[in-house]
Amino acid sequence: MCKKILAGNWKMNTTIEQGISLVAALIAGEKEIPAHVQVVVVPPFTHLHIVHQYLKNHGIMIGAQNCAAHAKGAYTGEVSAEMLASVSCQYVIIGHSERREYYGENAQILNQKLAQALRVGLTPIFCVGERLEEREAGSYFAVIASQLRETVAMLNPSDFSKVVIAYEPVWAIGTGKTATAEQAQEVHAFIRKTLAESFGILAAQTSILYGGSCKPSNAAELFAQNDIDGGLIGGASLSAEDFLAIARAF
Ligand code: PGA
Repeated sequence: MCKKILAGNWKMNTTIEQGISLVAALIAGEKEIPAHVQVVVVPPFTHLHIVHQYLKNHGIMIGAQNCAAHAKGAYTGEVSAEMLASVSCQYVIIGHSERREYYGENAQILNQKLAQALRVGLTPIFCVGERLEEREAGSYFAVIASQLRETVAMLNPSDFSKVVIAYEPVWAIGTGKTATAEQAQEVHAFIRKTLAESFGILAAQTSILYGGSCKPSNAAELFAQNDIDGGLIGGASLSAEDFLAIARAF
């Protein structure tokens, strides 16, 4: 059975004070989180250390939104995977569509980031997903297959077994427009089938999360699908009430 994961990607939101209040509210509601669900908060880099201080005696884990493609050195403004591990991060999002789109992250860069994350024991949450025009043109399967084949499909099986996949249709991110449960399930099943071509049975154990305007009102239907093993939540993760309601939807 795949691990059930609910990750909250705060993106570039919250001051330290706001971030601490959000974490405190999650801790206060932690007992509402079903025992089989691993909740992960993914704050901005600046918040990771203090958020860890709050969460260290709790079951909620922490992740980062990005990591550098290099191990260390003269890369001004970058944060390495090793630095993230040193503040007790366990997860790192790699290949979010906002990174691909606004920062030109291509397969080559993403492969370097995957290697860095895996080298220090971080669990990558690797994102794939099509744009609106690709959905409308019906080319989304081809787009997602190539996003996988150029990156995670090239890992060795042992590294691959540590990776979590997130399907995030770009047209659903932050737009309020969610993929229907059927649309999401169709792509999740396709992702699992594509990964099985490279990794066989391991693909059955890969957690595949859905992301894109997931909220309390649609989470239960999405999580009830066979191949949806959790969520990568943006906007709704900024409200402890909504995020906990999504956790209860498992
Ligand atoms: P959203 O973002 O939930 O605000 O649509 C999801 C994501 O980008 O991870």
